[in-house]
Amino acid sequence: MEPSSDPLGATSSGPHRFTLPPSYDCIGLVDSFDELLETPFSGDVNALCWPRELPGDFHEIVRMLDTGTGINSISDATLNALPLSAAGRVARVIIAADRQRLRQHHLEPTLDCINGYNHSDEGVIIPTHVQSWHVDSATDEADTWLCTYSGAPSEGLQNFDAMRRVDDPATRAQLLQMYGGHDDDGFLDFLNEHFFDLHYQPLPGARPWSFGVGHLWKIACLYDGSPVPPCVHRAPPTIPGQPPRLLLIS
Ligand SMILES: [Fe+2]
Repeated sequence: MEPSSDPLGATSSGPHRFTLPPSYDCIGLVDSFDELLETPFSGDVNALCWPRELPGDFHEIVRMLDTGTGINSISDATLNALPLSAAGRVARVIIAADRQRLRQHHLEPTLDCINGYNHSDEGVIIPTHVQSWHVDSATDEADTWLCTYSGAPSEGLQNFDAMRRVDDPATRAQLLQMYGGHDDDGFLDFLNEHFFDLHYQPLPGARPWSFGVGHLWKIACLYDGSPVPPCVHRAPPTIPGQPPRLLLIS
């Protein structure tokens, strides 16, 4: 892989050559789906990537779906019913193969066509939506799998470049006021129930990276007994006029 001086330079809407920034020890690369499946997280690595340059026209699928605003889950039947060109059909076969592989391993992938997000940060102490830096959590051992086929890719943040928003003293004081009690176990439960403890802010000088387009990722979740810290990530900011995202996530 060639190093890149622009970790977020991969946010183009089309397939591109993935360039891994040089000093991102939290990212591990693999060469196949099976290797992605079998490679555990360890040491500094909490994000594993199978880099791919996919053939086919994924933009055509997005155009043909012609969804409304917000997050639209696309069923197998809807995808299969699209009248596509040969290049669009190639893209559809790849999506179907990815879905099938994940299902075979007891995962439940969702194909989403995301045409903007419907949330507002106004009056919110800590945003808890997917465009806020966050970690995914689970009650048991679990990973998050994702691939952006088209549109702006998801973004990641190294753990040392991020701090939990609830650990910011001013924010915590606001939350304590909202809770109306003391900073005790009950308050921790309150933070957890509202997902406040899963959200992060980037530290000064933080260098986010782009998940790129077409690559399949497995990232670490927060759960008891995880060997690594959870991967901090977010959906990309909405830029008016950008085409929808086509995202497979499990
Ligand atoms: Fe997430």
